[in-house]
This record gives sequence, C-alpha cells and structure tokens, in this order.
Amino acid sequence: MMKKILAAAIIICFFWQANAQELTLNSPDKNFTLSFNLTENGVPTYSLTYKQKDVIKTSKLGIETKNVPSFLDGFTLTEKAVSKFDETWTPVWGESKTIRNNYNELLVTLTQKTQRNRFIRICFRLFDDGLGFRYEFPTQPHLSYFVVKQERTQFAMAGDHKAFWLPGDYDTQEYNTATSNLSEIRAKIKSFITANVSQNTFSATGVQTPLMMKSKDGLYINIHEAALVDYSAMHLNLDDKTMIFESHLTPDANGDMAYVQAPSQTPWRTVIASDKAGDVLMSKLIYNLNEPTKYKDVSWIKPVKYMGVWWEMITGKSTWSISDTNNVQVGITDFAALKPNGKHGATTAHVKEYIDFASANGFDAVLVEGWNVGWEDWFGKSKFHVFDFITPYPDFDVQELHRYAASKNIKMIMHHETSGSTTNYERYMDTAFKFMVANGYNAVKTGYVGNMIPRGEHHYSQTMIDHYLYNIKKAAEYKIMINAHEAVRPTGLARTYPNLIGNEAARGTEYQAFGGNNPDHTTILPFTRLMGGPMDYTPGIFQTDVSVYNPQNHSRVNTTLVNQLALYVTMYSPLQMAADFPETYAKHMDAFQFIKDVAVDWDESTVLEAEPGDYITIARKAKNKNEWYIGSVNDENPRTANINFSFLPAGKTFVATIYADGADAGYLKNSMSYTIRKVLVTAASILKQKVGAAGGAAISIKEEVSAATKKLPKIK
Ligand code: NOJ
Ligand code: CA
Repeated sequence: MMKKILAAAIIICFFWQANAQELTLNSPDKNFTLSFNLTENGVPTYSLTYKQKDVIKTSKLGIETKNVPSFLDGFTLTEKAVSKFDETWTPVWGESKTIRNNYNELLVTLTQKTQRNRFIRICFRLFDDGLGFRYEFPTQPHLSYFVVKQERTQFAMAGDHKAFWLPGDYDTQEYNTATSNLSEIRAKIKSFITANVSQNTFSATGVQTPLMMKSKDGLYINIHEAALVDYSAMHLNLDDKTMIFESHLTPDANGDMAYVQAPSQTPWRTVIASDKAGDVLMSKLIYNLNEPTKYKDVSWIKPVKYMGVWWEMITGKSTWSISDTNNVQVGITDFAALKPNGKHGATTAHVKEYIDFASANGFDAVLVEGWNVGWEDWFGKSKFHVFDFITPYPDFDVQELHRYAASKNIKMIMHHETSGSTTNYERYMDTAFKFMVANGYNAVKTGYVGNMIPRGEHHYSQTMIDHYLYNIKKAAEYKIMINAHEAVRPTGLARTYPNLIGNEAARGTEYQAFGGNNPDHTTILPFTRLMGGPMDYTPGIFQTDVSVYNPQNHSRVNTTLVNQLALYVTMYSPLQMAADFPETYAKHMDAFQFIKDVAVDWDESTVLEAEPGDYITIARKAKNKNEWYIGSVNDENPRTANINFSFLPAGKTFVATIYADGADAGYLKNSMSYTIRKVLVTAASILKQKVGAAGGAAISIKEEVSAATKKLPKIK
C-alpha cells in the first residue's frame, strides 16, 4: 500500500555551539523556519516564521503533571538529531491519488538534571505546508507513570487576527462558527453557545480546534492536532491581552487530563500556514503525521454514496420510535404490544421504497435509523441500557430487507445510536457486529447523543478517545466501516484506520431542520472541521422549506438548492449522502442528475478560489475516470464565481453541464430556483458564473465533444 520513494536519511548531530542556544530548522522549500530554544530557567520555547513573517512568536512548551514533578522547566539540551524524510503514499480513498510526505525533522532531548536525569524529547517536523510537533516520553529508569494536569503548549499569535472559531466545549462541536478578531472572542462567545443536549464550555476565551485564522498581512493560519490516540482532545485558551493561546485538554470524570505510561507520546500539535487560503484546504500535513495503515487487506473499504430513512425523523415528519410511550426497557417491555404512533419511519415497506429509488439511481447503500427497540426514551435520562443493537422493532424485518437490498445491489447501513452509554455499547459490540455480518451490513453509523456514561466523562476525554478507536479497530475485525457522529473531531486517524470513512463532529445538515445553519457555514467548515478528516455532512436537501414536510417545523435550509449540489465537491468525503426524500428528488430529476453522477473518490483536486467565510470553488477529477466535477459555494453575499478550467488536459474539448442558481435565487427567496445548461469547455476556458446568496454552482464535465454535441455554445 505504501510506496516509499525515498527512504529517510538520518543525520545525527551532537555538536553544540557555545553561546548559540537557538536551533533552527527549515522546511524543504525553505519558506518556513522553526526556531527552538531554552530560556535561562530551562523552559523549552519555539517560534515559527513563513516567508519571514511571524506565524508563531516565541512560545513556551511543557506539561504540568500531577503525581511526579512537571515537565515545565529546569531542562538542558542533551542531544539533538536532524533528519529528513520524503515518501509518496497511496491513500485507500481521498482527494488525490497519492500524497507526498516530505519534511525535515528536529528531535531534541531535554534532560532535567535535578530530577535524576529524567528526560523527554520534543519532535518537530517541518513540511512545506507547516509544522507538527509532539512530546515524547521514552523508556528510562526514573519515568514510568504520570498524570497530566494540563498541557502548557503555547501558540503566541503575532497580532489580533481574524479568527473562525467555535466555543471551546468538552462535549459538542455542533455550533455555528463565529468570525471575529481574537480580541472579540470574549464579548461574542455567549451568543455562539447555543443549546445542545450535552455541552460543557470552560472559558470565556476558550475555542476549539481546528482553529482557522487570517492575519492582517494576509497569512492564513490553522491550528489543530494529529493522531489523537490515548490522550484527551486539545482546545485552545486565549490570553486576549497577549494574544497567546495555550493548550487546554479535556478532563475526565476526576478532572484529570490524561493518564500516561512511558514509552509514549502526545498527539502532534499542528500549525499549517500559507499566504494562499487554498493551500490550507489542500494541506495533507495532518494525514502525514499519522501512521501508515497496519491493515493488511483494505479491499473491503470502499467509498459509499447513500440514501437513508433519516431526514424524515430529523424534520419531525416520522419518528425513530414505534410508539409515543415513555419508560420502556429493552428485554422487558413487549414492544410488539406498544401502541404504534403511526409515524414510525423504519418500516419494512417504507425502507423498500428507499431501496428501490437508491437502486434505480445507482446508489451504493441505504441507512435506516430507528430500526431497533429502545427509541421511546433514548436520551436525557442518563440511562445505561437504552439499546441492545440487535433487536429490531416488530415492523422492521431484518432478514427480508437483507434479501431485498441484496437483490437490488444495495448495501444496508446499520445504525448504532449509543445515546452516550459507551459502556453498554462496548458490552454489545461483538454481538452487534456479528449481527451485522450475518445480515449483510458492512458499515455502521454510530452516535453519542447526550451526556456520557461512564457518568462524568466527556465526549473528548481520554476514556472516550480510547472508546472511539476501540470501536474502529473492533469494526475492522469484522470488515465494517465506521461513520461516527458526536464523536471527537478527527485528527487524520483515517490514514491508519481507513475504515473510519466518516465523522460528524460539527454542526451538520440536521441543524437546517433545528433552526438553521449560518449561510457562511460551509465556506468555513473545510478550513476547520474538515482539516482532520471527512465529514458526514449529509448534503442534498432540495426542499428548503422544512414545513412542507412537517407543518410544525418552521426551520429553513439556509442555502439554495444548487448550493446543496456544490457541497458534494466542496465538502470532501468518501461517504456522501443524498439526504432528501426520494419523492422530492423524483420531482427534480434534472438537478438530481448531478448527485447521481458526482464521484466520491478522486484522482486530483484543485482549489480554484477560496476565502474562509466567503466562498470556496474546487475542481476534482473522478478516480480512474476522465470526468471532472466543480463545486462553488458562497456566503450570504451574491457574487461571481471565477472558474478557470486550466486543470483540464490541454488540447481537448469537453461537454460541461452547469447547474446554476436561478437569476433570482438566494437562500431567503426562490431558494429552489435553478438552471441547467450544457456548454463546451477546454483547458483555456474561463467561466464567470453568478451565484446567489448562500448559493452555488455545480458543474460536471463528462465527455469529449462529439458530433451530437459540437454545436453547443463554447466558453472562451
Ligand atoms: C444525531 C445524529 O447527528 C443524527 O444524524 C442522528 O439521526 C441522531 N443523532 C439520532 O441518532
Ligand atoms: Ca449530531
């Protein structure tokens, strides 16, 4: 799987220049320079520049511990090693066919002489797109177990940058993104902490990662983490007088941040920067800092385009539960005897309608939620045994649907809502996966709605981080793919565990039925949430007026219909849903054609234009096909998208189908108005395409010009 082009060359240096404490390291293209130093008190510090501009000003490094002396000061540098690495690897799925992993590394050994020569290492890897660094705790006589009280990694900003931020929270990421200067976070944070069934903010200036910023002099900066394994998730706490961020980890039920045993290491802390916003979108630094996959066979991992019995429950048209009864108990309650409410979505007959439509339109799979007993009281009760993950409601025939779906070449997607009761889920996991295999399911959407059990644990604490990975690895034993909702934001672990094909971990399309997402939402997510891995955003809602489905629900989808099409390209994911109802698509088969056609796996991706919070236009080439797809999304301001087709092979003419907002379309009015036209394009073509408020454009480029198409208008 891994194709090594150039093996690592390790050069170990033991020289130490008198008086010159500072060590520097350049990125392969020399645009970045990292400096490492120790203060007089032996506190490790680092700084980072890009083309001579400050990305991170001198910032302290260290870890405060509980039961052993802290790793904060008193260090001397006892060893340093510089090395370089260059390889190109092939992801199982992705935005490009191959990924180059090219960096220079500086590994420093820091010894605390007064602590019986206890030592740690800090490893810096400098890429052409930014920096990754982590703390390492090697095996040694006087260091074994310790408890992290707080990580004290600083990121000192060079100014009062514009930032795209979410309130820091131990349990949810399902907020709209705020855009403000760093100095305004404190004043604005309360208005962005909207209600959620499980939430715990921690500071008036605490924000989540990935955090996206833009400096006044045009530097785009992104801070996140990579390879979050056996540690808690990192947030950032801003000192808004000095503009210094400090790491803030997620506590466990005891208030501890992490239990560590040497040999071990922290996740990588990542700083991506460029003077072009598009470079941030295309950065693969976070994947590169993760380990190559250890799975020997990955042939069972495949991108998936799916539909599902889902939006009808989200809008309130149907219910997950079979009845409106409260107080049911799995294994005790006779579910067959419950009074049906007549609104249960997951009935055998109804699921067959989805299978029919999905099959007729070339989809891979159908997700069904609310198939299993227990949904009558699934959250808000801190109940341990909500679901058993194997017992269907009496009106859902697992075997018959398995047979029916298989006969139509459709895979069923399983749903495991845990309602936060992770201990209960772990008890059932093997049984649940065996049940899936027996019934033809090869993918599961998991969910963690509500407060966690073990009680007091948070969605992003170490115990839960361990749970999510246990789930992914256990699923792999059964060749099952995972799409985890409400789990921790991804940190590139899908490189190592490519059966993690989707995550939610942000405010998804569901909120369009819970009051709406901000119109600029999807112009920001690729710069924030998507940095660590794909999102199951569930696009494709054509009916923007939710009350058409449920008269009690007055929420509106805050985009145009065409914007929903563009999301299949701009929100990269190997798992893409067409989330609206089959009967709605049936009324707009011409626009639905784009969703049918669009690829879910790619050879190449090019950012044509991008500005966080304003617009994103991306072109991608379908995997192993001469087909290209373009998506353009924008915020509430109508604009003209600049679409340059120079990514096409030169010397050929292609037929492009352009799905555009109607002349009057915008998210507030005529949101469902669209036009479709066919034109001829070449690599020299440039298209100026008008897009409405929270609108978009979607283009498929499928065939070379033929006798039948050569009279189509040509774009110059
Ligand atoms: C929240 C998830 O994000 C949503 O997709 C799902 O339908 C519900 N939980 C129920 O599990
Ligand atoms: Ca959710």
